[in-house]
Amino acid sequence: GDNLLYLSKRFEVEMEGACEASLACTTCHVYVDHDYLDLLPEATETEEDLLDQAPFLKENSRLGCQII
Ligand code: FES
Repeated sequence: GDNLLYLSKRFEVEMEGACEASLACTTCHVYVDHDYLDLLPEATETEEDLLDQAPFLKENSRLGCQII
């Protein structure tokens, strides 16, 4: 629906991370709306480790490149 379209559009922008989605940076760090958070696959351990280094980490933080 409209919501998922909005979501994928957002992540097209976020995809422009420095490491090109190879899980080696935090430039694609995003906050996921709580309505969507539950719909996403869980973060891998590698993603979690990187998120720990991301500035302004929140409980709804994810790496944008890993979400699609
Ligand atoms: Fe580097 Fe996402 S672009 S981890």
